[in-house]
Amino acid sequence: MTPHPPLTEHYSGNDGKTAYINQLFDAGSKHYDAISDWGFLHSGPFYNRWALRRHGLRKGDQVLDVACGTGSVAVEAARILGSADTVTCLDPSEGMLSVARRKLRARFVVGRAEQLPFSDDSFDFLTMGFALRHVTGLEEAFREYLRVLKPGGKVLILEITKPSGRAGAFLFRLYFGRIYPFLTRVFTRSRDAQAMMVYFWETMDACVRPESVLGALRSVGFVEAKRIGLLGLFSEYTAVKGPPTG
Ligand SMILES: C[S@@+](CC[C@H](N)C(=O)[O-])C[C@H]1O[C@@H](n2cnc3c(N)ncnc32)[C@H](O)[C@@H]1O
Repeated sequence: MTPHPPLTEHYSGNDGKTAYINQLFDAGSKHYDAISDWGFLHSGPFYNRWALRRHGLRKGDQVLDVACGTGSVAVEAARILGSADTVTCLDPSEGMLSVARRKLRARFVVGRAEQLPFSDDSFDFLTMGFALRHVTGLEEAFREYLRVLKPGGKVLILEITKPSGRAGAFLFRLYFGRIYPFLTRVFTRSRDAQAMMVYFWETMDACVRPESVLGALRSVGFVEAKRIGLLGLFSEYTAVKGPPTG
């Protein structure tokens, strides 16, 4: 299952999607931190750390942050772990990775969620922050997450979900569809940054509902797949790799 139908005004086919997204984040990378900082009222570091703690990240865990971007989730993971020695950050965008490399001394790898360049049973905790909409296939990515996690390992996916009520959906559309891209252009004076935020909105608007994400996690073999919704806006998906069978 794809996380949303193809956005054919931007690309066609999976290869087109991958190339479009790469170019988008490479070009917008130098603005990404500032935009997400004011756009979410400076809540990002606190929220990421709070979510990681609540979902059980512990000292000593081998962590893989898929779609690390500029390192927002990985930095908070390293803070909880006490160092970045056991943190691996993966992203396809060299632009985003180059910003992340300046923030923490983790292991950085260029790659994509759908084809992780790691051996089976390598990690205790796998995170993906606000990037699920960019994979080409949910099951494709989740199969890889299951493979690289150790038995008992946990996946934590943070996402933004369009509210289901009419008033919430209206405010969501107004803010993410209009105000956020407009202010991005005004503050950054960058068309690339604005394009990144327009695409951010379009993918959230078109994204599959949470039940489909949970269904995809279960279908590849994860157990205890759950979603916690916060403020009618944030989704935290978690699931566990069960013990070896047979
Ligand atoms: C909105 S940013 C999120 C970055 C970071 N996780 C955060 O919380 O700020 C989305 C990131 O997903 C990455 N990305 C896009 N397609 C991907 C894929 N197929 N696999 C892994 N990462 C991908 C982009 O390069 C970008 O850095």
